[in-house]
Formats: sequence, C-alpha cells, structure tokens
Amino acid sequence: MDVDHLTVAQKAALSIGSSVWDTAAVPEHDIESITLSDGPHGLRYQPADEQDDLIKGRPATCFPTASALGSSWDEGLAAEVGAAIGVEARASGVAVVLGPGVNIKRTPLCGRNFEYFSEDPFLSGRMGAALVEGLQSQQVGASLKHFAANNQETERLRISADVDERTLREIYLPAFEHIVTTARPWTVMCAYNKVNGTFASQHRELLTGILRDEWGFDGLVVSDWGAVHDRVAAMIAGLDLEMPPNTGISDRAVVEAVADGSLAEDVLDESVRRLLRLVEQARERKPATADLDAHHTLARRAAAESMVLLKNDGGVLPIADSAGLTVAVLGEMATVPRYQGAGSSLVSATRVDIPLDALAAALPAATVRLAGSASDVSGADVAVAFLGLPPAVESEGFDRADIDLPADQVALLEAVAATGVPVVVVLCNGSAVRTSTWDHHTAAVLECWLGGQAVGSAVADVLTGAVAPSGRLTETIPLRLQDSPSFLNFPGEEGHVRYGEGVFVGYRGFDASDTAVAYPFGHGLTYTEFTYSALDVSVAGSADEGTLAITVAATVTNTGARAGQEVVQLYVGDPVASVARPPRELKGFTKVRLGPGEHTTVTFPLAARDLSFWSIAKPGWLLEPGEFTIAVGASSRDLRLSATITVDATLPRQPLTVTSTLGEWLADPAGAALIAAAVGDSANGLFEDQGTLRMMAPVPLDKLVLFQGTGVTRAMLDELVARLPG
Ligand code: GLC
Repeated sequence: MDVDHLTVAQKAALSIGSSVWDTAAVPEHDIESITLSDGPHGLRYQPADEQDDLIKGRPATCFPTASALGSSWDEGLAAEVGAAIGVEARASGVAVVLGPGVNIKRTPLCGRNFEYFSEDPFLSGRMGAALVEGLQSQQVGASLKHFAANNQETERLRISADVDERTLREIYLPAFEHIVTTARPWTVMCAYNKVNGTFASQHRELLTGILRDEWGFDGLVVSDWGAVHDRVAAMIAGLDLEMPPNTGISDRAVVEAVADGSLAEDVLDESVRRLLRLVEQARERKPATADLDAHHTLARRAAAESMVLLKNDGGVLPIADSAGLTVAVLGEMATVPRYQGAGSSLVSATRVDIPLDALAAALPAATVRLAGSASDVSGADVAVAFLGLPPAVESEGFDRADIDLPADQVALLEAVAATGVPVVVVLCNGSAVRTSTWDHHTAAVLECWLGGQAVGSAVADVLTGAVAPSGRLTETIPLRLQDSPSFLNFPGEEGHVRYGEGVFVGYRGFDASDTAVAYPFGHGLTYTEFTYSALDVSVAGSADEGTLAITVAATVTNTGARAGQEVVQLYVGDPVASVARPPRELKGFTKVRLGPGEHTTVTFPLAARDLSFWSIAKPGWLLEPGEFTIAVGASSRDLRLSATITVDATLPRQPLTVTSTLGEWLADPAGAALIAAAVGDSANGLFEDQGTLRMMAPVPLDKLVLFQGTGVTRAMLDELVARLPG
C-alpha cells in the first residue's frame, strides 16, 4: 500500500479519528472515511447527525450478551449471531463492529462481566473466534477487545494490572491468541488500563512483541476511546489508530515528532498502511438488507440455548399446560425484563418480548396471572419469580460491591415460599449472583443471564419445555464472595491491582483449594439424563519431534425420555509438575443433541500445548514428561470418565554453570559424573549422608567452596564447567 504520495500531516490525520466514530478521509487521494460502531451483542450505530445522546443508537437487534451467549457453549450459534450483527452493521454502512470482548472474569464483581464469555480462556477463545468469524463473513470487521488484562471497571482508565508473565500467558492472553491466530480479526482494541505499569495503549511488548511478532497479527490496533496518553509513544509501541480525535493535539504531536526525528516516518507509514488496508477491506462489503424478524427469531433461539438450569427439584420444570393449572408470576422483571447491560454496548432493541405475556401465550389452557405480592400467590400450583440485578447495580464503568440479589427480592421469595407454593426462580443478571442464601426456598432456578430482546419468549420456551435448557455455567457460582480466588486482591489500591491468585482463577482456584461452590463451572441441567461410557485415549507421535497427537473419545447416551443437548467437557490435569498447576483445565468441549435412547461418540484432539504450562525459566511453553489425567464429564465437578496417560518428553537442559546448585549438578548425569570424579565418593561424607546432601543441594556451586569439608575448591569450578559436554 503506497503512502509516499501523502504528506506527513495527511498521514498523521489518518492515524487519528476524524470524529467519535469515523476515521479520516483524504478525498484528493480517494481515501474514504470508515465508521466503527459498538457493540458486542448488537449494533449501536450513531450517525453523525444523531449524536446528541451519549449512548442511544439506531434500532438494532439486541442479542444475548456474551455471558449468556457463552453459556450456550455453541460455537455455531455464536457464529450465527456474529453474522446477523454483521448484516445489520453492513446495512448501516458500518465497517467495524467494536467487539467481542474476551476479557476473563477474574472476579464476579466486575461490572462488565456481562460483556465477557467466561472465567476460562479456552472457552472464551472458542466462543469469541466463532463470533468474529460470523461477523467477518459479512465483510464487516471485528475489534477484539480489550487487549489486555482489563478485568475490572474500578479505576479502569489508569489502574495497573500487575500480573506475572506465566499468569498473563496462561490465563489473560490465550483467548486473544486463539482468536487472532484462527479468526484473524481485522482490528484489536487496546485496553485502558496499564499492564505492569505501562499503559496498554503504549505497551510495545503487548502490541508488537506478542500480538504481531509472536502471533502474526497483521490487522490494525485501535485504542479504546480515550485510552491514548502519548500518541507518539503509542504509535512506536504499535497502536495504529487513536479514537476519538483529541482536538488536534495528537496530530501536531505526530507531525512534530517526525520533524524532530523522535518518530521515524516509516513507523507512521506502517500504521497508515494498516489503516488503508482496513479501508480497502471495508470497501469490499456489498449493500445488505437485514431481516429483523429473522434476527429476532435468532435472538430468541440464542437466548433459550444460553439459559442454565441450575436446579430442578422434583421435575417441577417443564410446566405442562392444562386447564386446571394456575401459575402465579412475580417480580418486576416479569413485565420489565432486564435483557442487556448498561454502557457502550447498549442496543436500542427493535422490539422486546415481555416474559409474562409470553408465558401466558405458551400456556393457553392455564391461568397465568401476575401476582403483585406474596399473598397473591395463594391458590397457585406454581409460582414463577423473575429476579435479578437492576442496571444500577452492574454496568460498564463501575464494579459491584457484593454478589447478592437485592434484599427486597430475597424477601419476596421468602414470603412466596412461606405459602407452600413451589417456586421457580428465573434470574436475569450479567454476572454470578449468590444463590446459597435463598435457593433452598426454591424448587427450580433458571439462570437466563442477560438474554437479549427476545428473552421473554425464550424463557417461556424453556419453562414450558418447548425448548429443553442446554446452557452450562461459564463462571463458577460461589457459596460466598469471600471464597473467590481473587477476593483478597480486588479491586487493588493506590493505582495497582495485584493478580495474586496467579493462574488459579475461577474453577482453577476453587478446585486447587478444594473449596465447595454453589454451582460449578460447566454445570447445567436439562429435562433428560445422559450417561458416559467407553473412554478411549490414544497417544501418538512424539513431543520432542513436535508431532504429539492425543485423541480422546467417549460415548454419550441419552437415557431419559426426552430429547436434549449435552455439553461434553474435556479436562486435563498434570498431577506432578515442577510448578503449581490447577487440578484440571478445560481443553475441549462439544455440544450434542440426542433423542431418547440415542447415543453418539465424541472425540477431542489434544496437542503438546494443551498439556504445557508457561515456564518463566525457559521461557516459553513447556511440556514436562510424566502422567496426565484426562477427564470427560458434564461439568468441572461432574467428571464421568477419566484416564491417566504417560507422555514422554525431553526436558530442555538448563546449562550448568558455577551458579547452578549442587542439586542441579547432581541431577544432570554429566554434571554428577564430573562432581564425583573431581571430589570422589569420599568427599567427606557430603554425598553419603542424605540429610547433609539435602541441606547442601540448594547451595550454588560457587558458594559450596566457601564451606569447609565439601571437597569442592575454587580451582575445580572452572574445570568442572569447562569439561561439561556441549
Ligand atoms: C468504551 C468501551 C469500549 C467501547 C468504546 C466505544 O469506553 O471500553 O468497549 O467499544 O468505549 O464506545
């Protein structure tokens, strides 16, 4: 892409937005402006002449938010939703949709968790990649966000996420890595926050070292809105497009920096080339007309597929229609559904289905009535209470203070339960709420998350059995907030939040500390039962030759009387490792639909990376030889089948030096032989006496000479190293 014909001023202008949603145009060179718009679960398009409202955009289909869509564990569905958003974006002339968000749910308190898929990077990566592929199949770009470690709203524009390299690599980067390397998003959006003291917008290791040099990203890096603090430093770090414009300050800074040599013009040129490539990609889109009725139907199906049936005692669900049936419906959200989150992702829905109306329509023979209070419930066969979190409690821009339902809702539930009528609770919330203080009052709990504009119809579909629930938890529901692994390190103080739990985020932490939970990661019920059998794990190839290929197969059977979907989950554990590792980690999943009595065999591939951890010492991904546990099940704590395999691999040899410890020398065959030859077996009993040996093993060789009686001398040290092979 030739930029030589452009002046520095024109190039500077192209690296900065021309308005809140548009890039700059250079008409004399046939460079058109393109529009970027939110958001991850529906288009929030604000044309230039309709920007008097901070948030409100043109009507568009509001799909389930990521915490709901992620709970479907259905990549195909995510791709369909992405494609539908892409069609609506294309129909509005939008070139890039600002989503999906794939930040990890480090704490249930994060006000923006509704916009993120999971506490697990593997699941977040797969669901995010599917949505990006769907979106981009419509010649509309995605903007993968927020890169990186944007896991809270508290102080989000300036706090430093202090996270060690291994945790970053194993938890907070893999979803981005998977999506960048498989779905190839047109753009990546940097986060507001700092990472280990450096703003993400000018973090060269993130934006260039990792994103481009390691992962091969060749698209454009755009800032979060207002995330740039130093335009020149950001461009040098790899940030191509600053949004929104900032009254010419950045333009002047770039022009001056090129003039004084502090910004090499070829760095500016490369950013401009990426912008021009994006403009060219956008040019290829063809006009589109969105079928909003079809999109509403898709939103309804997506919401139903995302609902998680947490409990269903006595088979109170599904509710069967009959003339004598009376259903009492309670809660404000039965008539004013909460179906999306607040902030930049807010969609002006084309229509909203009302749960009460939908439930009445789904039970035509029954009496379905709105109960204004607990006493109204008397005489009903079942009560359906719509509870959840109001917008004022969770949103972009701030975090929650607790994970409890509003007290008045719990009080209402308790009063209804006191009447003796079986209660079904329907939850509408963006992130996990504590259920342990009230779910003993319930017969069933259906978690709907924020299910989009069609959630009212979808919940009626699931409650009545028209659609069997098939969602599974993508975040753990703890018994108490205090049990969360990040509890003591959130939200940080004095400008820093320390990711002290390391890799032990979510179920990884709960499992490592063997902490009881209300409902585990991966949990979800349906209206039938499944059994698992015939686990088969085959190991082929060689880790050393880079050809290790493990195949896991298992058979799943629907043993119930109704059709249903099962999310078969694969977890891998490394029980003996040189570093602390979670007991199990999700490394595969597939959703299968089976009729009564039907069965199917599912298979999962595993590669060396799936068994590896990020080694600081190496540095890089390290597969340590030994045993690994392979488990297949219906949730992280409902593992139906497991097997242990042994994997061979040669550990990279850490070169021995005089600062290597005695133990490291003795663990290395060549090193041990040299030590024995140098000091002989009679080295003053140093090596026979196990207790002394254990005490001295951690001592570096060049310190060992300081101890009398070891037989190791300064003169020996260089000789020992010199005689090491290779
Ligand atoms: C917001 C959000 C980001 C959004 C952007 C544009 O502050 O962090 O996700 O896409 O600004 O609205």
